[in-house]
Amino acid sequence: MSVLSKLPWIRRYAIENERLRTKLTESRQQVRELREREERMAQDAELLRQAREYDYYWREAFKRIDIRQLMPFGEVADRVIRDRRTYLNVDRLYTLWQAVESLPPEAHAVAEVGVYRGGSAWFVADALRRRGREMPFYVCDTFQGHVEVDEELDGLHRPGVQFTRVKAEKVAKYLRGFPFVRVEVGDIRETAPTFAAENAFGLVHLDVDVYPITRFCLEFFGPRIVPGGVIVADDYGTTTCEGVKKAVDEFVAANPGFRVFHLLTGQAVVTRLGGS
Ligand SMILES: C[S@@+](CC[C@H](N)C(=O)[O-])C[C@H]1O[C@@H](n2cnc3c(N)ncnc32)[C@H](O)[C@@H]1O
Repeated sequence: MSVLSKLPWIRRYAIENERLRTKLTESRQQVRELREREERMAQDAELLRQAREYDYYWREAFKRIDIRQLMPFGEVADRVIRDRRTYLNVDRLYTLWQAVESLPPEAHAVAEVGVYRGGSAWFVADALRRRGREMPFYVCDTFQGHVEVDEELDGLHRPGVQFTRVKAEKVAKYLRGFPFVRVEVGDIRETAPTFAAENAFGLVHLDVDVYPITRFCLEFFGPRIVPGGVIVADDYGTTTCEGVKKAVDEFVAANPGFRVFHLLTGQAVVTRLGGS
């Protein structure tokens, strides 16, 4: 039999082959889409599982006041968040805002330890100004990251690892519109003695993430807080910063004149009792 006589059969074979190849490509595409859909469904299921687990936190959330709409708080918070100068979100900033609003009249100083790029310090300074309560505001950081951690308690925090890419001069420049701000550069255990005579703090924001420094700050500032004044300890409820909770709990247990409130923002508000 000649090749010519086989041609119709070869053509039919080629056409059938092409049809099967197209079908195979389509099937592969369908399998890919099904896998992607399956992955998306697994992700949604995981999100749903997490949402159910944290239901206590979100329950009735849609009925709550949207604090971003509370002015002027909302615009001040928006400004520092947009400047990308703070790790604090609007909820934690609102705690600081309220602490400034309720500063006791006897308060004559404010401090922040753990400034990093200066966002939370700028926010507190602006809140003080709007409230007509400009007073010495000690803004303290090594500006070189951690100097001491407790490796058992402080998760992944290590000297020379986190918060090292920042310059004190740049932060000072960012805060230059507030002449009452005093930028204290260095380990707080060395800079604090330079303002030890200050004994009427109304608000101290502690945001250093680690046990030994939180503990030092509580012992240093505690006796210098006026009645009704507060220490806001960031990350008290953060599982990767166990040292903060330990330091605060130890301080409150040893000092009956203080009470601690754990907020769902992760912050602790340590209040000195006795305000009238
Ligand atoms: C989480 S950051 C502060 C974040 C900042 N409050 C914000 O608004 O994003 C922690 C800071 O604590 C500082 N810090 C850690 N140990 C310190 C110490 N012994 N003295 C002063 N600052 C310290 C670090 O340098 C770092 O900048």
